[in-house]
Amino acid sequence: MVKISYLFSIVTALSFTVGCQSTTTVNETQTSSSNSSTFEWKLPKGVYPPKVPDDNPMSEAKVELGRHLFYDTRLSANQEQSCSSCHLQAFAFADHNKVGIGSTGAHSLRNPNSLTNTGYYTSYSWANPALDTLERFIVLPIIGDDPIELGVTEEMQPEVFARFENNETYQNMFKAAFPDIENPIKLEFIVKALAAFNRTLNSFNSPYDKYLAGDANALTPAQQRGHDLFMGERAECFHCHDGIHFSDSTANEKSFQNVQFFHNIGLYNVDDEGSYPEGNQGLYEITAKNTDKGKFKAPSLRNVAVTFPYMHDGSMATLQEVIELHSNGGRDIQSGENAGMGTQNPFRSDFITRKDFTQQEKDDLIAFLHALTDNDFITDPKLSDPFNNKGF
Ligand code: HEC
Ligand code: HEC
Repeated sequence: MVKISYLFSIVTALSFTVGCQSTTTVNETQTSSSNSSTFEWKLPKGVYPPKVPDDNPMSEAKVELGRHLFYDTRLSANQEQSCSSCHLQAFAFADHNKVGIGSTGAHSLRNPNSLTNTGYYTSYSWANPALDTLERFIVLPIIGDDPIELGVTEEMQPEVFARFENNETYQNMFKAAFPDIENPIKLEFIVKALAAFNRTLNSFNSPYDKYLAGDANALTPAQQRGHDLFMGERAECFHCHDGIHFSDSTANEKSFQNVQFFHNIGLYNVDDEGSYPEGNQGLYEITAKNTDKGKFKAPSLRNVAVTFPYMHDGSMATLQEVIELHSNGGRDIQSGENAGMGTQNPFRSDFITRKDFTQQEKDDLIAFLHALTDNDFITDPKLSDPFNNKGF
């Protein structure tokens, strides 16, 4: 994995805006409109499509290929797993295991993210600014060896790709998805098709969306109160979980900049000096800067009621625990190897303060989070397993 420092990416982002804003703008607009005109996004009015890289324009054929690959165990070395083994539609493409468990049984340190509206993020993984497109990220679960997920190492690639080359249906699907490429059954194009499918995992039909669209009765009175709290200065959730994506690290095809943010919410403080458990300290793993300890991307909260357990390491089982953390301004752990006063973590964001929510406020916040569940998304046949357990 290429690790570049956080500082380096900030500098690049800044020089981008100052130096060549007008050129960038023009390019982006052209790309977006040409992509949009040939691909029907099916997004609600007012919601812009995600950014799409110039070299991977969207097409129906590519999305359909990506969907097949996403659900196909042929894409793991030992044919035990597919992407959908850790990203299940019924759980908004997250997993109910605390951490990812790969095709060989290896455990990762991190909880599999929900892929709800994943095309809109400005960084991928829980904390890595260098992984700034789906194309850059998706190669990792396929070939990564620390930990092994699908386990398609360089030596295994010919064997794995042959499974697709020897299958007529796949030959035709690859040809339709990449008509200008002579032999597209290669890692690069597998990743591109998967990225295109991932950009269609869009969820904008929750009760909250109906409320936004003008249906005043879409939220219950408790959800309405929870909404007002969430969006206000008392609970302060919206600072990091902002906008229609409920995450500050998002952009769309009209955005000029890819702004990335990482925050410490006081989940741990194992040494009284702000450390998180070793090897899983978020942005710090990339930058080695003390002040980056415990900083992670604020995940979208759409469909959060079905994506438990929570946090980068799955260490919170319920939304109640999350709300307790915010009520206390961090999480104190009394005993065990991770014991420590998260409420005293020196690197906590300024927004993470003791709020002492009343029981009613806690219940209302949780009720609001439940209003972000989009049942159409988690049952949409177009996003479901195309093999229907039959295969081809
Ligand atoms: C063994 C379980 C497992 C498999 C298989 C797997 N993933 Fe993941 N996925 C994870 C975990 C764990 C993370 C969090 C990674 C991290 O932050 O270190 C993740 C993160 C992601 C993200 C980043 C989302 C975000 O918000 O940053 C995307 C996109 C993704 N996976 C797509 C895929 C695709 C596509 C495949 C198939 C090629 C796949 N995954 C296979 C476990 C898995
Ligand atoms: C300072 C920024 C910030 C604020 C303010 C904030 N969050 Fe978060 N939130 C995060 C980050 C970062 C994570 C992931 C932290 C981690 O894994 O270590 C997170 C995780 C979560 C999760 C778990 C999501 C998942 O998929 O695992 C929930 C639920 C959540 N926040 C709800 C809230 C609520 C409700 C509020 C307001 C009371 C709030 N947050 C305020 C940054 C913030």
